[in-house]
Amino acid sequence: MTRHFISLLDLSPEELNALLNRAIELKHEIKSGRTSQLMQGKTLALLFDKSSTRTRVSFETGMNQMGGSTLFLSPADAQIGRGEPIEDTARVISSMVDIVAIRTGLHGNIIRFAEYSRVPVINALTDFNHPCQLLADMMTVREKIGRTENIEVAYIGDGNNMCHSWMIAAKQFGFNIAIAVPQGFEPDAELLEACEDRVTLTNLPAEAIKGVDVVVTDTWISMGQEEEKQQREQAFEGYTVDSALMKLASENAIFLHCLPAYRGYEVSEEVLEGPQSMVWDEAENRLHAQKALIEFLLDENRSIQRQGQLDIRT
Ligand code: CP
Ligand code: NVA
Repeated sequence: MTRHFISLLDLSPEELNALLNRAIELKHEIKSGRTSQLMQGKTLALLFDKSSTRTRVSFETGMNQMGGSTLFLSPADAQIGRGEPIEDTARVISSMVDIVAIRTGLHGNIIRFAEYSRVPVINALTDFNHPCQLLADMMTVREKIGRTENIEVAYIGDGNNMCHSWMIAAKQFGFNIAIAVPQGFEPDAELLEACEDRVTLTNLPAEAIKGVDVVVTDTWISMGQEEEKQQREQAFEGYTVDSALMKLASENAIFLHCLPAYRGYEVSEEVLEGPQSMVWDEAENRLHAQKALIEFLLDENRSIQRQGQLDIRT
């Protein structure tokens, strides 16, 4: 079975921790001018039907730094945009490239693609989750706080894909998360139940943030929700992470945001640009974490293929 990365649950906690170690190693390597060229001859296909700055640039640059190449396809470029089934697209593309990253709305689309793909599939964001972002976020937490387990996190804002990813991370990395959302914007109920030993839910940002080590937020209006802008801005009034709210967190708390950020809405200018904000390191870490992820998935795939060959011979 090919291993994919559709959720943080696709890797064990041990594998996730090893991946973060490798990401930190790769960061040091590139900063000291060393490159591995491990991906020579390998191609990563990026199938994106939503906008992206960080995810696209980090995947393309990462592959390039490792000696491999990338192929970017938007729906306007590929037949999938004219109705070719996902199952057919998956079989064709995965017969030619070594690894695929997909950004799409419907989470089920990635699952369908992965079922028919011969090569690893990476979730580069769906409406349900954004696991690549959490690799970078956890790497940043490790760098800034020194550990990822037994910490207290507050997520203030929409119960969206980023919120879900933080909930799953709480399970996998062993930390507690307090989520503050307005009524009607709660995260997925099934996921909430599955994570209940690590997650608490409130409608009060001031309650969630009290004494925490990490404060996280995300846009109130995710891609595809543009028509709900006015209604959402009203519903999220009082949920801006500003200096007054940050004062309630631990004195050494860090602030994270996957970006793009909307100053004056989910976060104030002062917090985003302030000394507790680690968002620029967090964004850079997308590059290092995803290089480690690509390495991991291609290595795993090779060893699965090797095991398969042995099985045939015996
Ligand atoms: N954080 C993130 O995924 O950014 P992009 O949408 O720019 O890729
Ligand atoms: N919640 C946001 C994250 C963007 C990286 C969205 O889905 O648009």
